Amino acid sequence: AKVTFIEHDGLEQVVDIPTGWTLMQGAVQSGVAGIEGECGGSCACATCHCYVDEALVDSLPPPSETEEEMLDCTASERRSNSRLSCQIRVSDALDGMVVRLPEAQS
Ligand code: FES
Repeated sequence: AKVTFIEHDGLEQVVDIPTGWTLMQGAVQSGVAGIEGECGGSCACATCHCYVDEALVDSLPPPSETEEEMLDCTASERRSNSRLSCQIRVSDALDGMVVRLPEAQS
């Protein structure tokens, strides 16, 4: 699925992410600066925090309890569309998704 990552400074990068990968893996693989993924996707660092498409946020599986807890300790403000990108599996349904990146990660 093609996902557009927008850095806090407005820089856009479109990444084609294979089904089954996480958003974080796709972003890190393509060198998207705003996503670090320090813990390698085990939901323990919150450096993969992102703001997902408002239009799609409700169609994603809700955050697990661990993700919920991590979202409360992100470096940048938590918003209603805040998610950890390592917890979001890419599928065709996400094609065209827009993901904005918080300032503190770049
Ligand atoms: Fe560490 Fe997502 S990569 S919480």
